Amino acid sequence: MTSPILSVKDLKTYFYQDEGVVQAVDGASFDIYAGRTLGIVGESGCGKSVTARSILRIVERPGRVVAGEVWLHRDRGNGHSDAIDLTQLDEDGREMRSIRGGEIALIFQEPMTSLSPHYTVGNQIIESIRLHKGLSARQARQEAIEQLRMVGIPRPERRIDEYSFQLSGGLRQRVMIALALSSDPRILIADEPTTALDVTTQAQILDLLRQLQEERDLAIILITHDMGVIAEMADDVAVMYLGQVVEKGPVDQIFHAPQHPYTRSLLRSIPSILAAPRTKLSTISGSIPHPYARPQGCPFHPRCTDFMAGTCDAFQPRLLPVAKGQWVSCFLYQTPEEPLAVSK
Ligand SMILES: Nc1ncnc2c1ncn2[C@@H]1O[C@H](COP(=O)(O)OP(=O)(O)OP(=O)(O)O)[C@@H](O)[C@H]1O
Ligand code: SF4
Ligand SMILES: [Mg+2]
Repeated sequence: MTSPILSVKDLKTYFYQDEGVVQAVDGASFDIYAGRTLGIVGESGCGKSVTARSILRIVERPGRVVAGEVWLHRDRGNGHSDAIDLTQLDEDGREMRSIRGGEIALIFQEPMTSLSPHYTVGNQIIESIRLHKGLSARQARQEAIEQLRMVGIPRPERRIDEYSFQLSGGLRQRVMIALALSSDPRILIADEPTTALDVTTQAQILDLLRQLQEERDLAIILITHDMGVIAEMADDVAVMYLGQVVEKGPVDQIFHAPQHPYTRSLLRSIPSILAAPRTKLSTISGSIPHPYARPQGCPFHPRCTDFMAGTCDAFQPRLLPVAKGQWVSCFLYQTPEEPLAVSK
């Protein structure tokens, strides 16, 4: 595997509210590679979307990135490369604005939140193309038609002058993807991109993402709570629980040799991945703690069948390697005293 193009290291994003502090992301670490898909999976509220928003520096107040690093690596040609830590940039500054929607693009579950009802879909794509590529209005319109064709919009020369509300859900999501890709990003973050769609349309959109990834060597972060989507799409998986990555590794290892008790229960909660490729995660025993009442020690301990009193409720496990490429944060594989063997 080549070197990563995005490295997230020990990212922490907290929301400071009158009632208390929500540690929405509390030490997330993972790497993203060109041409590969990282699936981020976990139950609702575990910090998947806030992680995505933190990378792009669009965390809503009263939230903010309080610690960690997000390194964007750039190939400068002739064997030279450099890296920039996005957490150090001014979130409204010129550089971050050009990276957001430029090198790193985002698509959401609901295209209506990103597509304006006041402009034709063409105008929105043309504007983005002109901004990022500096083309003339005529060239940009031609390119926008090509982008719409590329994402499978039929008769794009007519659709380009329509408004998003005139399109079906599936076509809207395709327009969203065309808009996201119009800046030629290297990284695409897709936050539940198919959750709002029917099963057939879901499959088509996932196929489209895979095809575009292959054509453009795109790195994709795919956020979902659908293990079927992970099985189908991801090369690597990061399992999140209460703001932390508790296990990460290649998709085959995560599915066939899960090590963290939470990953195991997530997988057990699906009767058969092959038999039911789009089964949603059913609830596992216990419930997610209230955001203000974070458990001491291992965040999963109140729900864990392997719980060890005096250890799991007293110390925080760290994400450490257990097998090739597979990392786990659990005292079944480390002692509390163990020094950090490998830096994250
Ligand atoms: N604007 C906000 N203000 C306060 N807390 C927030 C805000 N946005 C998110 N949170 C909290 O941060 C935590 C993580 O939320 P996040 O939206 O990242 O979860 P998620 O994994 O994306 O869940 P879902 O699968 O439901 O989309 C939750 O406890 C949530 O309540
Ligand atoms: S550290 Fe302890 S409580 Fe946490 S997942 Fe591992 S065994 Fe369970
Ligand atoms: Mg979310």
